[in-house]
Parts: sequence; C-alpha cells; structure tokens
Amino acid sequence: MLQTIIDEIGAQMRGEEDRGKVADYIPELSCIDPRQFALSVCLASGEQFSTGDADQHFSMQSISKVFTLAIALGRLGEGLWRRVGREPSNSAFNSIVEVELSAGRPRNPFMNAGAILVTDAILAKGVPRHTLAELLHFIRAAAGDDSILINPVVAASEKATGDRNWALAHYLRSCGNLTNTVDLVLGTYFHQCAIELSCAQLARAGRFLAGIQSGPPLIAADNVRNINALMMTCGHYDGSGEFAFRVGIPAKSGVGGGILAVVPGAASIAVWSPGLNSFGNSKLGTQALELLSKRLGLSLFEPEPFRLPGVAAA
Ligand code: DON
Repeated sequence: MLQTIIDEIGAQMRGEEDRGKVADYIPELSCIDPRQFALSVCLASGEQFSTGDADQHFSMQSISKVFTLAIALGRLGEGLWRRVGREPSNSAFNSIVEVELSAGRPRNPFMNAGAILVTDAILAKGVPRHTLAELLHFIRAAAGDDSILINPVVAASEKATGDRNWALAHYLRSCGNLTNTVDLVLGTYFHQCAIELSCAQLARAGRFLAGIQSGPPLIAADNVRNINALMMTCGHYDGSGEFAFRVGIPAKSGVGGGILAVVPGAASIAVWSPGLNSFGNSKLGTQALELLSKRLGLSLFEPEPFRLPGVAAA
C-alpha cells in the first residue's frame, strides 16, 4: 500500500511542468537534468520503499550539514552553542548581513556561516583529509553502505566560484570565531558538500535521526532530539515556516535538490528533484513531501497519532 502511494506521488511529480530552477551558482551542478525525481522511505520495520530515479547519485550539498553537526555535537556537546546559535532566521542560506548582525556568532548551524563554523569545530587543529574521512565513515555507517564518495570535480567547481562562502569565512575569522585558516575550513566544507549519494542511500543514512537504525546508536538520543528540532526550525532557512506549515516534519534541504526528512520513531524519508524554488530548496521535493505527509498524516502537528496505512495501532 505504501508502495502504491509513493508510486502515485512519483507519477504525479513526473507530470509536473514547472520543476523549478537547477542551482547554477555552482557550475558543475548547472547541467543536471531537472526531469529527474526520486522518493524513498525507510520504516522502523526495516522495510524500504522507493520510486523513480532512487539509485541515481546526486550532490548532497547542505544536507551534509546535518552529519557534520552530529559529529560536532558528539565531540563538543553543549560547548558548540557558545560559537553558533540555534534560532531560525528569515535571511537566505548564504546571507552575509546576518553574520554581521550577530557579531560573528551565526544564528544556526544550517545557514552557510553556521555550517562553516561547525566544519571548523570538527576540523579542530586537524587535517581536512582526516575530517572528511571521519565524515564519510559516519555517513557510510548510517547508510550501511561503503560506496558513498566525494565528487572532487563538484568540490573544485564550488571552490572556484564560492565567493560568498569565502566572504563569510573571512568575516567569521575576523570576529575570532574561526580557529583554522579560511583555506583549510572551506577546503573541507566544499568537499563535504560534494558528497554524492542516491535517494535510497540518503533515506537509509537518515535512519539514526528517526531512531530506527538497527545496531548501536551513532549518537546520543539527546543529540538526535536537538538535531531534529533544528531541522524543523531552520532546515529550510527562510522557507522553514512554510515547510513546517505544508509538511510538518523535521527536514534538511540541499541545493543539489535533495531533502532528508524525519518522522521521529517511525520513518526516514529522502526525496530528490534538482529544480529549486525561490528559497533554494527542491520545488518538487517539497511538493512530494507535502503530498506524502497529507496522505499518511505525517505532520507532527496532526491531532491524530501517525499510523502507517494497513498497520494497526499499538
Ligand atoms: O555553500 C553552498 O552554497 C553550497 N555548497 C550548499 C548550499 C545549500 O545546499 C543550501 N541549501 N539548500
């Protein structure tokens, strides 16, 4: 039954004319075919249901910020919040004025300035290569899949054109809130954003946030709860309120067109469609999640408790 529902949503999305606009500020991403679409759902039962181009690899981009945050919280705990806030913002993901207004302490770890800072925190005084290996190890363990890799061409493409991120990192450093050199931090950040995986792999990688991964927990339950809260309030930047209104579950988007969404205790959901809306979030991805959420009653704000179709309440 769930397979039928997601197949129907996939068919509807494939027929959509207005697919949004593929990110072109990273040249290597500008040539992605916007007609692609995929949706994948992992359940607490261990089952996974997918539709569309679910095995096609795409660029993780800002979804990687969830995983660097998980590592940073595991390592630094509460100390991280001295350097970055946890409040939503109504500015764009790459806002410069916002960092100046907050005196170099970014409002949250998902805006670019905050994410650059988190990368600096996990880099500590280390070597970017080792930090990236640790990040890949974490994502591979979460997905149960060792084939996930970084695309160095995408990283180089963003390094060459990411002037806003260079500006943000230099500003953070001028405020004394970046411990490593801008070169080292952004070298790491551009590579973390260039991790590639498929929609099916992403849904599996998100299971630890839904609390449905078998095996030992990757991070403490407190940190899972905190990350989900931040995904709910800040995961779609200045579009987070609209996303909560329409979909109602914690989620994190990336300009590669992916979205990772979490139904705590029940499901990890990934969606991918490369065309973006005006907030820089996947247009059809958001639409598909809204449809899925309404059909299954996934929103955390639903008055009725969530139950999968065909599954009796406990
Ligand atoms: O830093 C950047 O601009 C990109 N590597 C990531 C931005 C991103 O994915 C924003 N999210 N929707």
